[in-house]
Amino acid sequence: DKGGHKHFMAKEIAEQPVAIDRALRAYLGSEDGRQLPEDLDFTTVDRLTMVACGTGYYACLVAKYWFEQIAKMPVEVDVASEFRYREPPVSPNTMGLFVSQSGETADTLAALRYMEGKAAQIVGLVNVQESSIARESDVVLPLHAGPEISVASTKAFTCQLVILLMMALKAAQQRGHPLPDGLPEDLRALPGLIHQCLSLDAQIKDAARDLAKAQDIIFLGRGVLYPLALEGALKLKELSYIHAEGYASGELKHGPIALIDEKVPVVVMAPRDALFEKTVSNMQEVMARGGKVILVTDAEGARVAGDGTHEIITMPQVPDALAPILYAVPAQQIAYYTAIAKGTDVDQPRNLAKSVTVE
Ligand code: F6R
Repeated sequence: DKGGHKHFMAKEIAEQPVAIDRALRAYLGSEDGRQLPEDLDFTTVDRLTMVACGTGYYACLVAKYWFEQIAKMPVEVDVASEFRYREPPVSPNTMGLFVSQSGETADTLAALRYMEGKAAQIVGLVNVQESSIARESDVVLPLHAGPEISVASTKAFTCQLVILLMMALKAAQQRGHPLPDGLPEDLRALPGLIHQCLSLDAQIKDAARDLAKAQDIIFLGRGVLYPLALEGALKLKELSYIHAEGYASGELKHGPIALIDEKVPVVVMAPRDALFEKTVSNMQEVMARGGKVILVTDAEGARVAGDGTHEIITMPQVPDALAPILYAVPAQQIAYYTAIAKGTDVDQPRNLAKSVTVE
């Protein structure tokens, strides 16, 4: 049942405020006392190894910034298909964290089994509670996203981010580091903020009509927004079959800038955070070479840096740590509406399966 939507993907994008609210209620200590499981313990470990595939891997990349900056914890992130065959040494003080919507991804499960007996604790962050990864983890954190039918992951990704941020806050507390201003209280505003982002789809439809004509599209972001650039590009290529790449905007001049001309649209994800000026100067290098920029930013960002851009998608103003969660919505909608404009099969893209149980 698509609940009145044209596609499961549209339904699942729209469900994000409710899904995130459920994840917050499950883990963000409240009057009814529910919070992250007690056996999720950061006092006995001094490093974190996160392993996943695809969109889950990008959630881990965002979480690396959070765990490093907020909890001052060394973090390694890898794609499961590489991790499992590299024979990485695992120190006994490591927490192994495996992120998977389905809980059945073959490479992620194999990576988990590789770490079993070597790491201090195996933690599974899964949407499907009766899955192999859930069964084989010491501590399981269900995403509470609800069933995800569309092949492209949407609400599972934002729930992964929300829970990973709560985990980073717990790690900070247990390790004796102060929490960033406003957290965790600001998390409670997320469902409402996500809801606001959903109404930007009219602007995004306009941008998507242009994007659908392109052969190559580049996504740029810095800091916590860099993994969102990767996620935006992955979603777009999965759904619209247009070649797309995400880059850390500071890497642009080390190669990718050679691709820029008036035919290559560049989506820039840049909330007005501490790295904003740097991202904007990379964006200006793109515009100076004729690149058409679609800038995703907040009202203040649009005011100071909007000149000369092709299109602006104006997001709500948010605390820095929450930005990657909110910017997931335009990343999803850009892919969705570009696919609609191209007429591809949104829920069932060619060559892809929802659950990848073979390597
Ligand atoms: C992208 C997508 C895939 C999955 C990947 C991992 O939209 O859906 O990249 O994220 O196959 O799947 P899970 O999370 O089930 O392990």
